[in-house]
Amino acid sequence: MTTGEACGKVILFGEHFVVHEVPAIAAGISNKTIVEVEPSSEMLFIPGNQRTIPELTYKSIRNVLSVMDIKGNFKVTLGGDLATAGGLGSSAAFCVALAIAFAKQVGIAFSKEQINNFAYEGEKAFHGNPSGIDNVMATYGGVMKYTRGKTSKDNKFEPLRIARPFYLVVGITGKSSPTVEMVSKVGEFKKAKPEAFAKLAEKAEKIVLSAENVLANGDLIGLGSLMNENEFLLEKLEVVSAENIKIINSARGAGALGAKITGGGGGGCCIALAKDEKYAGQILAAIKKEGFDGFVTTVG
Ligand code: MEV
Repeated sequence: MTTGEACGKVILFGEHFVVHEVPAIAAGISNKTIVEVEPSSEMLFIPGNQRTIPELTYKSIRNVLSVMDIKGNFKVTLGGDLATAGGLGSSAAFCVALAIAFAKQVGIAFSKEQINNFAYEGEKAFHGNPSGIDNVMATYGGVMKYTRGKTSKDNKFEPLRIARPFYLVVGITGKSSPTVEMVSKVGEFKKAKPEAFAKLAEKAEKIVLSAENVLANGDLIGLGSLMNENEFLLEKLEVVSAENIKIINSARGAGALGAKITGGGGGGCCIALAKDEKYAGQILAAIKKEGFDGFVTTVG
């Protein structure tokens, strides 16, 4: 039996727009996916206590095996503490952990770049048209600025310097909404309203550029206000559900410096920026009082 593991992520700025080649900023979180792999007479996926979509998971396992040119059947067991809650990069973490575990099965020390490329093929089963940001984060972690290129060879990512660590509260709506559907919804929006989309994308890009400075200066007030601006654009894109709004409002009411969805939206997860650990606790309590689950994580 071999194992692989990979961390989850939150998108701080630029989800959805990143699919359309606008830069985005994401941060790795410490919650991780662990995958165990062993040869088996038939292909078998064991989801543990996680909510998964088996058809898509089997497809992603086959995609990863095919791109790695590995034959045979395997039993794949999912574990770790990264919730498949939507927005935390769990499908990408699964694909990266899977590629690492399969690499150990065949005894080849692939580079991180190769593992990232293998995982991207697995991600296609879940996302259809993934920007690649999630598998980059699961492979490399840290805080990254990511820009999708015209082809996957042109994708660019650079680690960002952040002046000080900060607390984020992750609120989980409990409503799963497949990223593939949200991404295609945004694609429809762009097709139906190209000018409106272009204006929103231009603003999203400016937010990312400002965020780079704010992160480098450790300006938490500025960071929070950029998160709120980004949330406003995502609401205009119609990817924010009623549950997301409830979490965002309760976080802001409890003193969050900024709050937004993270990832595909339409449910999934939200993030709220806290001034310090005490505020993070208060914000989490407020979200829980509304009936949602969540946790506190640090970035940097
Ligand atoms: C998913 O974590 C982020 C999206 O921007 C999709 C993608 O980038 O592939 C919604």
